Amino acid sequence: MTLLDPTWTALLYLVAAVCFILALKGLSSPRTARRGNLIGAAGALIAVVTVFLSTKLDNIPWILAAIAIGAAIAAPVARRVQMTQMPQLVALFNGVGGGAAALVALLELDLAEESWVRVAIVFTLLIGAVSFAGSLVTFAKLQELMTTRPVLFPGLPVLMGAAILASVGSAIAVVFTGELWIAVLLIVLGLLTGVLLVLPVGGADVPIVISLLNAFTGLAVAASGLVLGNVLLVVAGTLVGASGTILTRAMAQAMGRSVTGILFGAFRGGSTAGSTVASDRPVRSSSAEDVAVLLGYAQKVIIVPGYGLAVAQGQHTVAELQHALEARGIEVEFAIHPVAGRMPGHMNVLLAEANVPYESLKEMSEINPEFKTADVALVVGANDVVNPAAKSSPGSPIYGMPILEVADARQVVFLKRSMRPGFAGIENELLFEPQTTLLFGDAKDSLTKVLGAVKAL
Ligand code: TAP
Repeated sequence: MTLLDPTWTALLYLVAAVCFILALKGLSSPRTARRGNLIGAAGALIAVVTVFLSTKLDNIPWILAAIAIGAAIAAPVARRVQMTQMPQLVALFNGVGGGAAALVALLELDLAEESWVRVAIVFTLLIGAVSFAGSLVTFAKLQELMTTRPVLFPGLPVLMGAAILASVGSAIAVVFTGELWIAVLLIVLGLLTGVLLVLPVGGADVPIVISLLNAFTGLAVAASGLVLGNVLLVVAGTLVGASGTILTRAMAQAMGRSVTGILFGAFRGGSTAGSTVASDRPVRSSSAEDVAVLLGYAQKVIIVPGYGLAVAQGQHTVAELQHALEARGIEVEFAIHPVAGRMPGHMNVLLAEANVPYESLKEMSEINPEFKTADVALVVGANDVVNPAAKSSPGSPIYGMPILEVADARQVVFLKRSMRPGFAGIENELLFEPQTTLLFGDAKDSLTKVLGAVKAL
C-alpha cells in the first residue's frame, strides 16, 4: 500500500521535470542563476519525496541513513568550498552520481529478464564506471594530489584500446548471459577506461573533461531510469546529458580546441600543460601611485579580470575602484573572457558577489572593438586570456583561442605577483611591449593601494 496513486505520482514527476527545465533556464544568466538553482533543488526534493510516497520501499532506515550520511558529508563541503575549487567539487559529486547509477544497475541485473533492459543495464554499468573513475582522476589533478601535466606511458593507447574492446565484449556477454561476475568485470574495465581516458589530459583542459564526464553521468542516470522504469530519472538524466554536452562544446570552442583533441591530443605529442618557470627578461614596472595617475586621468578604462583576481579575492576592491573612477567621470567596463578563471562564468559570479552591475560586464565579442578607444586596459590577475601567442604562435598550447585584444588599448597595466606564466604555462609577449606597465603584488593589495592613490588625486 502506498500513499500516492500512479496518477499523482506522474503529476508530481512532471512538476519536478518542469522545475529542472526552469532551473536550467535560470542558470543561463547570472541575474537569474540563484533562483534557477533553488528551483532545481525544489524539483529534486519533490522527486525524492514522491519516490518515498509512491513506492513500496523495504529498507527505509537504511535509505534514510544513507541520505543522512551523504548530506552530512556533502553539505559542509559545499558550504566551505572556495570558488576556485568549485570544478573539483563538481567533479567529485558528478563521479559519485555515475558510481551510484552503476551500483543501482548492478543490483537490478538479477531482475532483468528482457534483453533491452540488460542493454540499458550494461550501458549504465560501463558509462557510470567510466564517469566515476574519470571524475576521481580529474579531482586528483585539479586538487593537485597528482601532476596536472598529461600522464603518458608507453603502451597507453594500446592498453586503452584493449580496455575499450574488452568492455564492449563483456557488455555483449552480460546482455546474453546476465552473469553477475561478467557485470562486475565490466565495471572494473569501465573504471580502467575512465582512468586511462583522463590521465593524458593536461591541466588546462581538465575542466572541459569534467563537463564531458558530467554528460556521461547524465546518460548513465537516464539509462538507469529505463532499468528502473522511472520516467523522471530518464528526463533528468537526459537533461544533464544534453546540457553537459552543450557546455563541453562551448568550453572547447572558447578555448579553440576540439573535444577529440583534448582527449587524445597528448597521444599525438601535443601537451597542454606548459612551464611554471618565471621569465627573467626585463619589464617596465611601476608604483601604485603611477598606476593611479594613469587611471585617474583616463577617459575610458577597461578592466580585465582573471584567475588571479579570484585567488586574491579582490572582487570587492575592484568594484570600489570602479566606483572611484566613475565618480571622476571615467567610463569603466569589465571585459569578460569566456574561460577566464577556472570554470565557466567564473568572472561573472565573482564580480556579482561584489555587486558589480551586469551592465558593466561586456562579453569578448562586444568589448574587443572597444579596446581601441580605451586609454587603459587594467589586467587584474589574467594572463592566458590576453596572451597574443594565441594568435601568433601556432605551436603554443593556446593557439586558436580567441583572446581579449588588450594590446589595442593605449596603455596596458598588469597586476600580478611575479613573472610566472598563466595556466597554460607560456610566456606572454605583451608583458614586454612598450605600452605595458606591471604592478607587482597580490591583486587585492595592489588594488587597495591604487584605490587609495586614486582617491588622493
Ligand atoms: P591565467 O592565465 O591562469 O593567469 C592568472 C594570472 O594571475 C597569472 O598571471 C598569475 O601570475 C596571476 N595571479 C595569480 N594569483 C594572483 C594573486 N593573488 N594576485 C595577483 N595575481 C595573481 O588566468 P586567466 O587569464 O584567467 O586564464 C584562465 C586559464 O585557465 C586559461 O588558460 C584557460 O584556458 C584555463 N581554463 C579556464 C577554464 C574556465 S572554464 N574558465 C577551464 C579550464 C581551464 P602570478 O603568479 O605572477 O601572480
